[in-house]
Amino acid sequence: DTPYLVDRFGRVATDLRVSLIDKCNLRCTYCMPAEGLPWLKRNELLDTDEMIRLIRLAVETLGVTTVRFTGGEPLLRQDLVDIIAATTALPGRPRTSLTTNGINLGQYADQLVQAGLDRVNVSLDTLDRETFRELTRRDRLDDVLAGLEAAKSMGLEPVKVNAVLMRDVNEHETRDLLHFCLDKGYQLRFIEQMPLDPQHAWDRDRMITADEILERLQAEFALTAHSADRGSAPAERWLVDGGPGTVGVIGSVTRPFCADCDRTRLTADGQLRSCLFSQTETDLREPLRTGAGDDELARLWRETMWAKAAGHGMDSAGFAQPSRPMSAIGG
Ligand code: GTP
Ligand code: 5AD
Ligand code: SF4
Repeated sequence: DTPYLVDRFGRVATDLRVSLIDKCNLRCTYCMPAEGLPWLKRNELLDTDEMIRLIRLAVETLGVTTVRFTGGEPLLRQDLVDIIAATTALPGRPRTSLTTNGINLGQYADQLVQAGLDRVNVSLDTLDRETFRELTRRDRLDDVLAGLEAAKSMGLEPVKVNAVLMRDVNEHETRDLLHFCLDKGYQLRFIEQMPLDPQHAWDRDRMITADEILERLQAEFALTAHSADRGSAPAERWLVDGGPGTVGVIGSVTRPFCADCDRTRLTADGQLRSCLFSQTETDLREPLRTGAGDDELARLWRETMWAKAAGHGMDSAGFAQPSRPMSAIGG
């Protein structure tokens, strides 16, 4: 057995994305209905020890070197700090990061740093209080802004900001969002919206494309290609007005980066996915709870990744949205 998670196309998964919980304290219209979703039950979620065991297996046996925690909203998980501390204590000290809506960051930033967290990505689609309230169905913009400040002052850098651009919602804020992030020293990335919403309202023809985002930006700023090797990062980056500030564009739909993908995914209920858009999952929870050894779990993980598709296939005729929404998969 190789000590790596490899697939048929020669890609090696060294980046593990763990969804810790499917719940969220916002209700972004493109992600969830107002009433929320049928949440996983407590006994369906992996507990602290189960989570740590699988992360340890990925790092010690399967060659994973970076671990990102997502949700739902990962800061709603009571044991987040313990899980991060256990992860950063593993051999080789994996790099860790958190993708969060930022609301509870102000409260937890110092504990996260103490646990060894390296950095955070914060979702922020608008700077307008009323738009924020409509888009997220909660009046929490100030908490997010405070969370961003806390992350920066605690050294969780680079602080990255994720903005999904949507027509007639926040498209007119492209410039303001970039000015704000340049001013604060946050690394802004604009994101093409993907078909992952439970309402199935995504419409390719209305999507704001990477080309359109760049056109909007170039009307206001001078962009030059960033020289750093992009590796398998989803974001293409540009220096803004000569730098040092940058802006990124994540063009998952029109500029897919699947050929360089280095990701493997674990959901909060212990399911493995080889891709955000996989049509199948591999259950690790049942074997975990019925006494499977590390060898067996590692074998299941390797098999899952070996079966990984070449790409998300959004442009192929048979494409279907994954059966679970983004909040249950972990972005
Ligand atoms: P960094 O390493 O900090 O650049 O993280 P990231 O950009 O990969 O992660 P983040 O959680 O901030 O996600 C930003 C956007 O990229 C979100 O819209 C994710 O859904 C999307 N994304 C993350 N991983 C993948 C992936 O493997 N495939 C696709 N298509 N999109 C992804
Ligand atoms: N397409 C692209 N990005 C999305 N996000 C949520 N839903 C989608 C979608 N359908 C973003 C969130 C967050 C990140 C994890 O993914 O805004 O920043
Ligand atoms: Fe929560 Fe993120 Fe979904 Fe918004 S996009 S509802 S912050 S999980």
